[in-house]
Amino acid sequence: MKTNYLITFILIVFINVVYSQLIPRKETINICDKLDEYVNSLYSNEQFLNYSDIKACYESTPYNKTKAIQAVKEYLKAFYALLDQAKEESNPGFDLRPIDIISELDLVLNNNYSYEFQFIYDVENLIGELRDGHTTLYSDYYNKYNFYQGFSMYSVIKKDGTQQIKVFNDLKDPSINDCQVIKIDGRPAIDVIIEFARNYTHRSRDLSSRFNSALASLAFGNGDFGISGTSFTLRNQLPKSPSTSYTLNCNGKISKITREWKVFIKNVQYKSPYITGTSVGKATLIFDAFVARFYALRDFGVVLISTEDILNSDSTLEYRFLSDIAVGFKLLADKGIKKIVLDLSNNGGGLIFVAHYINKLLFPNIKNFPMDFKVNDVSIPLIKEISKLKKGIGSLFSYKTFISAKTNTSFDSVTDLIGNNTYTRGGVQVKYTSKAFFNNTTQYSGILKLPTPPKLPWTEKDIIILTNGLCQSSCAIITQRLAEINVPTVVVGGFPNTRFSFAQYAVGASTATTNIKTLLKLLKNLDSSLISKLSFPPNLTLGFTIAEAYSIKNPNEVMDYAFRPADYQLYYDERSIRDPSLLWIQAAKYIGK
Ligand SMILES: *[C@@H]1O[C@H](CO)[C@@H](O)[C@H](O)[C@H]1NC(C)=O
Ligand SMILES: *[C@@H]1O[C@H](CO)[C@@H](O)[C@H](O)[C@H]1NC(C)=O
Ligand SMILES: *[C@@H]1O[C@H](CO)[C@@H](O)[C@H](O)[C@H]1NC(C)=O
Ligand SMILES: *[C@@H]1O[C@H](CO)[C@@H](O)[C@H](O)[C@H]1NC(C)=O
Ligand SMILES: *[C@@H]1O[C@H](CO)[C@@H](O)[C@H](O)[C@H]1NC(C)=O
Ligand SMILES: *[C@@H]1O[C@H](CO)[C@@H](O)[C@H](O)[C@H]1NC(C)=O
Ligand SMILES: *[C@@H]1O[C@H](CO)[C@@H](O)[C@H](O)[C@H]1NC(C)=O
Ligand SMILES: *[C@@H]1O[C@H](CO)[C@@H](O)[C@H](O)[C@H]1NC(C)=O
Ligand SMILES: *[C@@H]1O[C@H](CO)[C@@H](O)[C@H](O)[C@H]1NC(C)=O
Repeated sequence: MKTNYLITFILIVFINVVYSQLIPRKETINICDKLDEYVNSLYSNEQFLNYSDIKACYESTPYNKTKAIQAVKEYLKAFYALLDQAKEESNPGFDLRPIDIISELDLVLNNNYSYEFQFIYDVENLIGELRDGHTTLYSDYYNKYNFYQGFSMYSVIKKDGTQQIKVFNDLKDPSINDCQVIKIDGRPAIDVIIEFARNYTHRSRDLSSRFNSALASLAFGNGDFGISGTSFTLRNQLPKSPSTSYTLNCNGKISKITREWKVFIKNVQYKSPYITGTSVGKATLIFDAFVARFYALRDFGVVLISTEDILNSDSTLEYRFLSDIAVGFKLLADKGIKKIVLDLSNNGGGLIFVAHYINKLLFPNIKNFPMDFKVNDVSIPLIKEISKLKKGIGSLFSYKTFISAKTNTSFDSVTDLIGNNTYTRGGVQVKYTSKAFFNNTTQYSGILKLPTPPKLPWTEKDIIILTNGLCQSSCAIITQRLAEINVPTVVVGGFPNTRFSFAQYAVGASTATTNIKTLLKLLKNLDSSLISKLSFPPNLTLGFTIAEAYSIKNPNEVMDYAFRPADYQLYYDERSIRDPSLLWIQAAKYIGK
């Protein structure tokens, strides 16, 4: 059972249809059914749904105080590892307010709403204010559409130090690409995007990384380059108004365009038009391992790894992916390559053991971040019952999954894992399990034998990590751990001369209500009151951080709240936003500095 996987949403644009005019259609009785019909009909002439139809559908369900809040609260109280730390002031490097999420959820119930979706969005956005990519509420009903403006934007820093927003990859009118966006809905574009990043993006506690997530950048994944970020122009909540206007400056000529929010029906993965096949700038491909690519460029090597691609594979495939990653590094070593740029930009995470494997591959003696999780009247019965099951091995709740951080051997019993750790967080005393590591042989029910890592020649002085600030979860387990042993880091984007985080959310584990539901089905002896406490509305999913990880360097520091700015900063320009090899060359200059 893989309870420890990531629920971070990777916003790759899945669009490849011609942006054309809507074909008018007949009025219908039930607008929601009609939307489904359009989506499902093979013969439909519709290419996209229109904003007002979706709005009308959502507005057909009035607000009725639902039990959803109660269920969300029960889950967060029982399992959310960062619940109490979230109430504390955090590092000023973050853009984050202290938040007592349980009390604030109650306050939402005092608001009056006309429609259910407004209430659901408020709850989603409130949980989003935790700025914890693992902790998100998702509605199958109110988040299923992607509203898109047909283009995205990027940011450059001019020679005089000023920051500009520019048009990226417009599907409707490519002639406006690279025009400067001066205003959005009449306000300075940069202010609007910063405010959006501050209020509505949830992918980092750091505002610079969130700003990057609102804009476009290239992302390696699914064996190819796609466009990631773009959350300003691609949203899964119904936007407040049907269109947005943009004032453009195209080579001195000022114009204004208005774009409606549209939802494409036929979704095809959108590939970056800027990179064809495996060739990136002047880099020479050494090995294409689908989940990873290995290049040689000038006198250095470049490694791209998409750890999220390993998420939904079976154990045979997992084994192959890991062997291929090991082979790729070995090929670079055999070619005599002395320096490596490890580009993990827009890596959304994946399986934790993959991150652990990559760390050990590069640094065989490395110890991974230890972790713990909450001990209370909900988790104790789960730990006790699951530890009894053979099938439970590998689950977070079985003591047999772990190695004690104190003794470096397996725990002897349930009591041993439950331990006696009490911390004061957010002004209250909270209990956590003993600190532990995953036992690399039991974590995955013993099915998976890890490939034997080859011996590699590089030290921390020969490698540099490059990200655009968005390297999450398992990606952070790699980069933040390597940074603790002095592998340097470089970020691209953000604001001029403002140091920012190269990664976020290095956790012990994360899970979701759907996984807990599956787990509960295995347990016959649980109290019925506990089962009913953990029932959750079927069309909502709450993902959450269930185990927190601790720094090795500062053993009491919870990684989720550790502000770790990169050592160096680069900026995108009109060329490097489309050709990452230009960034690789700039990053390589910092190796060994
Ligand atoms: C959307 O559909 C409604 C009703 O069918 C129509 O009145 C409206 O003009 C359409 N809007 C767009 C942008 O096509
Ligand atoms: C609100 O929900 C309750 C409980 O599900 C139901 O009894 C009641 O009829 C609903 N009210 C409205 C106005 O839909
Ligand atoms: C919500 O509506 C109720 C009754 O209609 C009213 O008493 C209350 O003041 C309203 N609350 C807010 C926050 O507007
Ligand atoms: C759940 O789904 C039902 C229809 O299946 C819908 O009426 C209801 O509004 C949905 N609720 C939420 C919170 O998504
Ligand atoms: C962002 O949040 C601030 C503070 O809560 C609020 O004043 C502002 O209106 C919000 N902006 C948007 C675009 O929602
Ligand atoms: C456990 O291992 C770490 C190094 O991995 C070592 O520092 C520590 O002393 C060990 N603890 C025990 C009790 O063996
Ligand atoms: C990990 O689990 C395996 C299988 O239960 C066990 O044989 C091994 O001793 C454990 N490793 C450690 C370091 O305790
Ligand atoms: C747990 O710790 C507290 C305070 O540190 C101590 O008083 C208590 O005896 C400990 N309990 C166990 C079972 O070790
Ligand atoms: C698994 O854990 C054992 C014991 O802690 C360690 O010696 C071994 O190197 C690990 N294997 C891998 C592939 O990480």
